[in-house]
Amino acid sequence: MTKAFFDHPYLSGHHEPVRFEASAPDLIVDGEIPSDLSGVFYRNGPEPLYPTREGDYHWFDGDGMVYAFHIADGRVSMTNRWVRTEKFELEKAAGKRLFGMFGNPMTSDPSVQGKTYNTANTNIILHGGKLLALMEGARPVVMGPHDLGTIGEHDYGGKIATTFSAHPKVDYATGELINIGAMINGYMGPAELQYTITTREGVVRHAVNIPVPHMALVHTFFLTENWVVFPIIPIDSDLQRFMKGGPMTAWNNGRPTKLAIMPREGSAEDVRWFEFDPRHMFHELNVWEENGGIFADVAAANGTALFPDQDGNRLTHGDTQQSLRRWTIDIASASMKEEVLNDRDIQFPRPDDRLMTRKTRHSFANINLKSRDGRVEGMDAVLRFDTESGHEDFYHFGAGSAAGELVFAPRIGAADEADGYAMSIVHRANAPASELAIFAAKDIAAGPLATVRIPFRVPSGFHCNYYSADNPLYQEAM
Ligand SMILES: [Fe+2]
Repeated sequence: MTKAFFDHPYLSGHHEPVRFEASAPDLIVDGEIPSDLSGVFYRNGPEPLYPTREGDYHWFDGDGMVYAFHIADGRVSMTNRWVRTEKFELEKAAGKRLFGMFGNPMTSDPSVQGKTYNTANTNIILHGGKLLALMEGARPVVMGPHDLGTIGEHDYGGKIATTFSAHPKVDYATGELINIGAMINGYMGPAELQYTITTREGVVRHAVNIPVPHMALVHTFFLTENWVVFPIIPIDSDLQRFMKGGPMTAWNNGRPTKLAIMPREGSAEDVRWFEFDPRHMFHELNVWEENGGIFADVAAANGTALFPDQDGNRLTHGDTQQSLRRWTIDIASASMKEEVLNDRDIQFPRPDDRLMTRKTRHSFANINLKSRDGRVEGMDAVLRFDTESGHEDFYHFGAGSAAGELVFAPRIGAADEADGYAMSIVHRANAPASELAIFAAKDIAAGPLATVRIPFRVPSGFHCNYYSADNPLYQEAM
């Protein structure tokens, strides 16, 4: 018999787990689904099957639950399924949590010592004909693109054996998937990340190890046509600090942001390191190169509320509100400057994905206009921001709403940037259900063209992706 979860900000309100799988063949829609919107919208996020052993919780620790909304001919079907990792199956069989938080071996049940802590809860992408559920501490997990049945962990023929970040980049010009794996030698081995280039067909053709200054959390990296940048922010994991009673993962006060620049086809000996002021940065909008510089538009802040500092002190969301900033890296001198493009409280900025690694101007994002504490209460609005003109185009769902990542969805046949729609899963304050709100991409302020009713509350989650039916990534997988 499963007991109720304990009280925790990330287990209540918008975050309260529903622990529920469903299939809905034809959801009710208010408004009209455009006839040239055809494809699939996926979302991944944490949905803990059981309460933790420690009586504490972290938003990043829940078991991955994937949602798929297939859209065609003005109709929408929905399926949601947990990613059935080895961790999930072992704990379901035991009827209780076996792994410590974040897989901490000190608090895990002896029966899972040596087993892989993989929640697969962070992102969900199509590449190489496969649907992949991703989390940065383990290997990808392959799922069925229609039924979301779990097929199993994927190691690319042994070439990606340890970790694979949840933020790989697809270069639509080549079809390649470029990614990193952080902390590939675990907490005790040398601090290194693995950099890989995978062909359109899903074959790893380039895999190199890059030494990094410390055991850092490297949630994302930057890719352009010819360059790659690894930003090492001041968040690290330190087993020795933990053994002395400190936090396992912490913001390290006094440490700069360290960035490595490398040719895209390069390896460790080509890396040049440089430093910048301490920054929290988990998500970029887009990155490209122009006139000898790398332009990285990022959601960044001068600190974070996601982890304590090395002494256990915590900041609030208000102290660490993110803004959309442009980091301009001079390739020749390996140096960087920063400017704020938009100071709205922003969570996940997204481009027109088809132009990832090439110059873009439109930013789609969920933002916080009125909620008291955005990270816990949720982001209550969505924004398209034109980084060239500075024009804002936004829609507010009402105080206390939680809007997930706003993802651009090209219309069938679209060629130009931002020609199509944008969508986000929304939960309004205290509502018993959620909705998928679909906007015209260039008129967010007009409100949703169509609102798909989801007949239960979808807890706040992480990353989403839309693949139109004419996208090669969709056609290779479906
Ligand atoms: Fe992320």
